[in-house]
Amino acid sequence: MTEDERAVALADELERAGDLRSPEWRRAVERVPRHVFVPAFFERTDTPDRGTLWTPVHSDDDRWLDLAYRDETWVTQLDGHITPHDVDEPVGGDPTSSSTLPGLVVRMLEDLDVDDGANVLEVGTGSGYSTALLCERLGAGKVTSIEVDAGVAANAAAALRRAGHVPNLVVGDGLDGCPLAAPYDRIIATCSVRTIPSAWLVQARPGGRILVTVTGWLGGYELALLEVGDGGVAEGRFLPGAISFMVARPQAPPVVGDERWRAAFEMLADAGARPAVVGPGVLKDWTGAFVAQLAAPTVVAQAVRVDGGPWVEYCLDTASGAVAFLTPDADGGWTVRQAGPKRIWDDVEAAVRTWRDAGSPAKERFRIRTDGRVQTVSLDAPGGPVSWAPPL
Ligand SMILES: C[S@@+](CC[C@H](N)C(=O)[O-])C[C@H]1O[C@@H](n2cnc3c(N)ncnc32)[C@H](O)[C@@H]1O
Repeated sequence: MTEDERAVALADELERAGDLRSPEWRRAVERVPRHVFVPAFFERTDTPDRGTLWTPVHSDDDRWLDLAYRDETWVTQLDGHITPHDVDEPVGGDPTSSSTLPGLVVRMLEDLDVDDGANVLEVGTGSGYSTALLCERLGAGKVTSIEVDAGVAANAAAALRRAGHVPNLVVGDGLDGCPLAAPYDRIIATCSVRTIPSAWLVQARPGGRILVTVTGWLGGYELALLEVGDGGVAEGRFLPGAISFMVARPQAPPVVGDERWRAAFEMLADAGARPAVVGPGVLKDWTGAFVAQLAAPTVVAQAVRVDGGPWVEYCLDTASGAVAFLTPDADGGWTVRQAGPKRIWDDVEAAVRTWRDAGSPAKERFRIRTDGRVQTVSLDAPGGPVSWAPPL
C-alpha cells in the first residue's frame, strides 16, 4: 500500500468508528501524511516486573509505516527530554509529547464545528499532525499553534514544512495564548488544563468556542466545550467519551518527593480513624475521580503496597499539608485516617455523596462556567443545582 492509500484507509477506519463525520475533515485526513509527523516514536509495553516500558520504533523498522497509520497514540517524548533517537532499548518514563490517537483528534476537530475562514488557536502542537489537519481544512494562514517544548516545536515545524504547510507556530506557554493572531473563532487544546486560562477568554471572539480537556490532580478528565460570551465569560458542557490528555506543563501536579511522603506518613501515627463511607475505588471511576478532585483540587494521591500487602491509598493536600490514609478492612470496607489542618477525605466524601445521591450522573449533566478568575462546575441535581468553585 502506498502512503496515500494508507491515509485513505485511515480515513475509512475513522469514518466507520464514527469519529470522522464530515467530507471536509475526511479530505484533510486523506491528504495529511501521518508518517511524516511520526518519524520515530515509542511503543508501550506493560510488564509485570518493570512496569510500563517504552520501546523505540524508528523509520528503518519494518513495522514503522504500518504503525504510523494506525489509529493509535504514538508517544514521541518521555520525561520532557527523552526521544526515540536517544535510546535503543525499552525504557521507563512518563510521556510528555505524542501524536494523539487520530480518531480522537478528528473527533475533537468535528466537535470544534469550524466554518471556512475560521481563525483557530491550537495549544499543544506536539507532532504537528493535528496542526496539519487544521491547515488542510482552513489554510495555514488561519492556524496558530503553540508548543511549550522548543525541541518538539522544531520537529513539528520541520514535519509541517515537509507536508507543505507553514502555519503560525509559536514556542511558548499556550496558557498565555497568542495575542498577536487574536481574535480567534475557535481555541482547541490537545493538552489538558485545571483551569481555563483567562488569556483564552480575552483572545476568543464573542461567540467563539473553546474545546479543552479539564483535569485535576486526582486523575479525572472531562472534555469541555464552552462558548465565550460578550463579557469574557465562557459557559459550556462536557462531551461524552473517556478522553484524557497530558496536563499543560505549568498546571501539572507538584512532584512530591519521598521525604515529603515520609513526613506525611508520620503524621498518620496520631490520626483519628473512622470507617470510610467512600473508598478509594472512586478514584478509579471516570466521573468519580473528576468529582473527587473538584472537592480536593490541590490533593495528590498515591496507591502503595508494602511487602506484598494490600494496596493502600495515601492522599496529601499539597496546599495545606493535610493527609488522609485509606486501608482496606477484612470485611471489604475501608478505614480512613486523617491528620493535618483539614479533613481532605471528608471533603471528597461530601462531593461524591452529592453526586451519588443525584444518581451518579455522567458528565453530560455537569456544566462549566469561567470568567477567568473563578471556574465553576455545577451539577443539575434533583434537589437543585450544586456547584463547586474550588480555590486552585
Ligand atoms: C498530546 S501532545 C499534542 C498532540 C498533537 N496535537 C498531535 O496531534 O500530535 C500535547 C502537547 O502539549 C504540549 N504542552 C504541554 N503543556 C503546554 C503548554 N502549557 N503550552 C503549549 N504546549 C504545551 C506538550 O509538550 C505536548 O507536545
